Amino acid sequence: MAKSNAENSVSVLVVCLGNICRSPMGEAVLREVAKSRGHDIEVDSCGTGAYHCGEDPDERTVATCRKAGLCLHPFRPLEREDFDKFTHILAADTNNLRNLQSIAPKNSSAEVRLWGSYLDDKPIPDPYYGSSGGFERVYEQCVRLSNAFLDDVFGKPKPTSGL
Ligand code: 4NP
Repeated sequence: MAKSNAENSVSVLVVCLGNICRSPMGEAVLREVAKSRGHDIEVDSCGTGAYHCGEDPDERTVATCRKAGLCLHPFRPLEREDFDKFTHILAADTNNLRNLQSIAPKNSSAEVRLWGSYLDDKPIPDPYYGSSGGFERVYEQCVRLSNAFLDDVFGKPKPTSGL
């Protein structure tokens, strides 16, 4: 089915450091939450660091997403062209945001923001050095952030009848 004009004009890049924990999970969750709200938008993710070049996402990220039936892609680095390609670039934390702001071409039209700025201004904590519980918490945070982002871009969904 063809995307509506509003959806054609929204494309989102979720960015973290390694692109093996937060941003691949955020990408998959945002795409799924958007779909469940009736929006077929383009979503991708990447990392600002190249520590995990060519690697698949962290196995804890994969396990958490698999429970929700979500698939993930291998690491991909941030590229200059991303600032032209995407309408919204969402940083997982303030370090990622600063990196993005320092790299962004002056004429970039992309809206570069902390993802948390759509909800509570909180960063997504890096779960890499913690336990699997941290990955579950990141998943739940990504669901909340996805809804907050979509509320801002498309408006809040209409309440369904209470019948
Ligand atoms: P991510 O987590 O940025 O959420 O993918 C990290 C994964 C690996 C490393 C840092 C953060 N690392 O330094 O290897």
